[in-house]
Amino acid sequence: MSDFADRLIAWQRHHGRHDLPWQGGHDPYRIWLSEIMLQQTQVDTVIPYYQRFLARFPDVASLAAAPVEDVMTLWSGLGYYARARNLHRAACTIVEAHGGAFPRSAAEIAGLPGIGRSTAAAIAAFAYGERAAILDGNVKRVLCRIFGVEGFPGEKAVENRLWALAESLLPEHEVGRYIQAQMDLGATLCTRGKPACSRCPFADDCVARRENRVAELPTPRPK
Ligand code: ADE
Repeated sequence: MSDFADRLIAWQRHHGRHDLPWQGGHDPYRIWLSEIMLQQTQVDTVIPYYQRFLARFPDVASLAAAPVEDVMTLWSGLGYYARARNLHRAACTIVEAHGGAFPRSAAEIAGLPGIGRSTAAAIAAFAYGERAAILDGNVKRVLCRIFGVEGFPGEKAVENRLWALAESLLPEHEVGRYIQAQMDLGATLCTRGKPACSRCPFADDCVARRENRVAELPTPRPK
């Protein structure tokens, strides 16, 4: 499918999410904070935490200067507390090793504590427009279904194929909107159970749908 990115971007314009508090700006610190909070927590839960956190720690310097206990207190209730400890550690690293300036590329961002390849790519795409592919759980599911990728995506060989596919699909323009579109499609239509195929812009092309295998893809973990 040669126009995958264009069609996904067009869908995002009309049907994607546009009004979330971390959208619209290009401050890497705010985008980073939102992506970390959103890793294991739903949007509705994240919003008030995100706003309180930013009010207390508006930038990397204020976060790095705070005692880690204050960071943990603000995080309390969100769960997965290693995220908060890594956030604080990464802020200290940015101040100590990068002179307080947020790293400018996905490769450098991925070197910070608590930030994997996919999250680093999302931050670089949203903040800087870098052409970097993401591959979180939602995107894996979308790609496995639409392109009929077989095999358990948690397996290294399958994951490598998915990364290569994700890289090959990246558009030249509007990378930020494209990345958001992938997240939105996976979160709102191409969901794990009961996907809304009738509203999907790829319904006619989707291998899983055409072969009536939507419930079978992605391939589950082998027993
Ligand atoms: N989940 C992870 N990143 C997200 C984002 N930028 N917007 C909405 N949900 C997300």
